[in-house]
Amino acid sequence: MITLKSPREIEKMRRSGKITAATLSMLIKAAKAGMTTRQLDALAEKSIRELGGTPTFIGYHGYPASICASVNDEVVHGIPGDRALREGDLLSIDSGTTLDGYVSDSAVTIPIGRVSAEAAQLMRVTQECLMLGIAQMQVGNHLSDIGHAVQTHAERHGYGVVRDLVGHGVGTKMHEEPQVPNYGEPGRGLVLKAGLVLAIEPMINAGTHVVRVLKDGWTVVTADGTLSAHFEHTIAVTDEGPKILTLREVNEHEDAALYRPQGEAA
Ligand code: MF3
Ligand code: CO
Repeated sequence: MITLKSPREIEKMRRSGKITAATLSMLIKAAKAGMTTRQLDALAEKSIRELGGTPTFIGYHGYPASICASVNDEVVHGIPGDRALREGDLLSIDSGTTLDGYVSDSAVTIPIGRVSAEAAQLMRVTQECLMLGIAQMQVGNHLSDIGHAVQTHAERHGYGVVRDLVGHGVGTKMHEEPQVPNYGEPGRGLVLKAGLVLAIEPMINAGTHVVRVLKDGWTVVTADGTLSAHFEHTIAVTDEGPKILTLREVNEHEDAALYRPQGEAA
């Protein structure tokens, strides 16, 4: 069942989204070579709770942490642990907040210190894929217009679009209908209406789209060992266009400075 949210519900989701956004902003600044992903997770849990929210991920199908921390060839769902971040790593951080019964879900991929030009371009293009997908979230468009925009941009750069995981509706639960693939023909499926709230989350690989799950049962990695990037926002379709509910105060353009061609000063 697809539920449309009232303006009042969207306002609640925006308040939830602000906590997720502020927490990711804090983590973007905090993540440094030498830190462990477990330390980042502890910072995230503290931030979400101090801002009045509950970490949505803890206990979700038994998941043990407040963030997913996925490094290099890890695509998504990396479990925080004792792995120390290293200069040159590409780190995806995914987190979610529940506030007043409403969930927000967002992810970013960031460089740890200086990264290769290849990694920087993958992050930049994946973020562009997210924004191009969001731009399709207009009343009257079809659901598949989102995935089509993502796929077209990613494949233009020779990248693989992960197919085994998808974006999703979000509301009182983290995963609601509909599923939102990051690929497909345009003009198919649901016609978008005001009040639809979706988490759009392109997962883009430098190599092929094929992924596999590690023995921990969670961590998704690229089958060919190439790098992967992931960006996600929670967005409402409104009559005035898409409203990003997890927008960080440091806006996307400023964030883009993180993804400038590297080899220059980090
Ligand atoms: N943010 C992820 C998603 O959009 C969910 C993380 S799975 C969890 O599907 F178990 F960590 F919660
Ligand atoms: Co999600």
